[in-house]
Amino acid sequence: MAFPPGFIDELTARNPIEDVVGEYVRLKRSGSNLFGLCPFHGEKTASFSVSPEKGIYYCFGCHKGGSVINFQMEIEGMSYPDAVRALAKRAGMKVPEDEQYQSRYRQQERLWALHKEAARFFYDQLYAPAGKDALNYALGRGMTKGTLIRFGIGYAPDSWSDLTDTLRRKGYSDQELRDSGLVTVSRKNGNLLDRFRDRLMFPIIDVRGNVIGFGGRIMRDGDKSGAKYLNSPETLIFNKRKNLFALNLAKKSKLGYLILVEGYMDAIALHQYGFDCAVASLGTALTEDGAALLAKYTDQVVLIYDGDTAGQNATQRAIPILERAGLQVKVLQMRDAKDPDEFLKKFGADRFKLLLEESSNRVEYQLNAIARKYSLKDDDQKVKFLQESAELVSTLSSAVQREVYSGRVAEAAGISGEAMRMEVDRARKRRLAREKKQQEKIDLAPARALQPKSRSIRYDNLKSAMAEEQVLGQVLKEPALLDQIPQLQPEMFSSELLGKVFRQLSQRHRQGFEVSLGGLEDLTPEEMSHIAGIAQRQTGPVNENALRDCAETICQEHISAVAKSEDDLMAVRESLQKRKGYRQ
Ligand code: UTP
Ligand code: MN
Repeated sequence: MAFPPGFIDELTARNPIEDVVGEYVRLKRSGSNLFGLCPFHGEKTASFSVSPEKGIYYCFGCHKGGSVINFQMEIEGMSYPDAVRALAKRAGMKVPEDEQYQSRYRQQERLWALHKEAARFFYDQLYAPAGKDALNYALGRGMTKGTLIRFGIGYAPDSWSDLTDTLRRKGYSDQELRDSGLVTVSRKNGNLLDRFRDRLMFPIIDVRGNVIGFGGRIMRDGDKSGAKYLNSPETLIFNKRKNLFALNLAKKSKLGYLILVEGYMDAIALHQYGFDCAVASLGTALTEDGAALLAKYTDQVVLIYDGDTAGQNATQRAIPILERAGLQVKVLQMRDAKDPDEFLKKFGADRFKLLLEESSNRVEYQLNAIARKYSLKDDDQKVKFLQESAELVSTLSSAVQREVYSGRVAEAAGISGEAMRMEVDRARKRRLAREKKQQEKIDLAPARALQPKSRSIRYDNLKSAMAEEQVLGQVLKEPALLDQIPQLQPEMFSSELLGKVFRQLSQRHRQGFEVSLGGLEDLTPEEMSHIAGIAQRQTGPVNENALRDCAETICQEHISAVAKSEDDLMAVRESLQKRKGYRQ
């Protein structure tokens, strides 16, 4: 994905990082940096920094960082080329044509257009004679005409090739049809077959309004024709983990929170009954990506999973994922119906609103879940209930919260508030001691502390790697320093990543381009964040002598590593010769 380096330089110059970030984060100046609340993780103190001088952002809390392009990618969930496009547009620049990029983007555009065609085809079918049963099924399940239209619901006819034929007529190639996931290839003769047959079709639309896939439901439960719901497979434009059903509508809701449910039908029913902030995950458990997507549009999520055990387990798993994304979590415990769809149809919107109002924060929910496990009539079980509850309450960082919930648990179990408070204090002390011990372990193992935060990056030679980090930090601050260390070659770096970055920076310097993070190519987000961290930790003035020392260390370490591997090589050769019975 190579854009000309000069273009990237101009792009970064014309999109000052403090301006672009400033559109999302309130920043306050402090010295040469600006600070604000990190948009990528929930926090109350500002550990998110922007350096206009270095052209980078870096969060000291979650360790995300990079150039203005990386910021655009991360905050809008865009690919690299799309982020470049968006920034070019922002600065009124024309994007040079990159063939590879063009072709990939064109492929995506074709798939979006193809899906729109398909959605139109399914939609028309629902109102054609062939769709009579499907329409009756939808209306029978309580969907109004308005809802059917708002969600673009359609019908895939009971045919092997109606969609394939239609799309071919519209000019889509067989390759494009296969790439779309809407057809399958016959194992018998290689013919293309419609994937969705005789199903009620739900278009899945991303936040930018593109149809990216479909879910299709059979219309007679217990039918032999396969799974109840069939979903589009992953394609160039469809990633189940990174999209949520109905978010394209819910993001416009005025309710101020988002409701997360398990099923398409639940989300649709909620919208129909006025809760237009409902979204559903796409036939998978909630992922970190899904939570991050939600966090872009709200800071409060109400979880409403099915009342069965599976739903409750999924709730317990989703809570920490949502909280880690900085979201405030409430849980609505489904009762008197198996899911929101069924509840709304049975009892209506007003009863549901009551349920919503008494939906509890996650602590209450988790306390209830513990209570359900034990019978308080049995003394042994009561003790277990109190201990487990104390453990949970002890995790709360607010003393007021601990006090309130301790009181509630005590009351439920019929013991004194004082006893419960003592139990919570003990649990809390144990926890703090445990955490302190863990921290000490980390502090006592400096080698471990120096390793990169991201688990995907590891240093094999810490001594050399620390010197390598120093070199990168300094030259990112003062590129002219590169002329001071001509002996240092990228191959000498012990860390492949740091060597790769050094190679790119040196090359840009030689060719007269900016030596900055913005020009770096071919790095993963974790790698880019790591490099941004190195650049941002480089405070203080640059120091030529220290730099030369670092270069020297790297050369020395490299020489001994080479010598060692040559020794190894010799040893291997010798042992091989011995085994083969050779004589020198
Ligand atoms: P449910 O079985 O709870 O569906 O599955 P539902 O939404 O209540 O559907 P109705 O009311 O019976 O029509 C929840 C979600 O799990 C996924 C779908 O995304 C569904 O909306 N799912 C379920 C599948 O992907 N495949 C299946 O076979 C079943
Ligand atoms: Mn249902």
